[in-house]
Amino acid sequence: MPDIGYLNGRFSPLVEIAISPDDRGFLFGDGIYEVVRAYHGVPAFWEEHYTRLVRSAKEIRLPFPIEPQDFHSLLLTGLQQSGYAEGKIYIQLTRGVAPREHGFPLNIEPTVFFSFREMNALPIEKMKQGVKVITVPDIRWDRCDIKSLNLLPNVLAKQEAQEANVFEAIFLRGGLVIEGATSNIFIVKNGQLQTPERNNFVLSGVTQQQVINLAQEKGKEVRFAELTLDALLQAEEVFLVGTTIEVLPVVKVDGQTIHNGNPGPETCALQQGFADLVAQL
Ligand SMILES: Cc1ncc(COP(=O)(O)O)c(C=O)c1O
Repeated sequence: MPDIGYLNGRFSPLVEIAISPDDRGFLFGDGIYEVVRAYHGVPAFWEEHYTRLVRSAKEIRLPFPIEPQDFHSLLLTGLQQSGYAEGKIYIQLTRGVAPREHGFPLNIEPTVFFSFREMNALPIEKMKQGVKVITVPDIRWDRCDIKSLNLLPNVLAKQEAQEANVFEAIFLRGGLVIEGATSNIFIVKNGQLQTPERNNFVLSGVTQQQVINLAQEKGKEVRFAELTLDALLQAEEVFLVGTTIEVLPVVKVDGQTIHNGNPGPETCALQQGFADLVAQL
């Protein structure tokens, strides 16, 4: 089965899709994106991803051309054409194609692009044993709540993590823990779940919200908090969440072992809870 692409109204094999060199996504990063994961053919939490995409579009003043039901149909059609039951769907909208001038061009249509690939989930040993992370200075802009295409700082941070032989880089801004290059972060302190405050410096994660819901359904308290690096290092448990990684335990931060170096009970319970949730979609 081929990877499938969708561009401005047309599905085709992904390799056949060509985008103009004058596309403003290519020239300026003038666009937004989402990543949706499909489990057994079902696009998980698609309404939440749609809502965030619409919000990102609004925040960058990009006219958003897709109704929710059409968005859902596109996801299902692409998945069906790809044949992937476990799918990774990338969705990108840019302001469109026009000769390179910074200001918004008049009378152009947004570029709407989807790709449908097979999801290669993280190896089970990594999910069970946990991963190491490093912290890096957050050199991003002031609107990290927008899922924009401007990911150069994230790319550099992730590369730094890879070169340090760890899974993720965690951004620190003004001494506070913000999020990972491609994930949100939680800690457990005195048995309570904490995650950094939601503001313009952090993406409100779809997985983060699902994990908060799961925890609250189990009667656990979740607090949005200012997390210092010290709080991270002293945490009883640390874990990352995201569409592609689900709930992933962290066992080392900057070379320092978290607690006893094993994934903790709250993390494992939420990891299982999340697995059960997506199995029932
Ligand atoms: C910077 C950043 N934060 C958080 C997340 C997690 O968000 P979600 O759970 O919606 O995938 C991502 C996901 O790609 C991300 O890139």
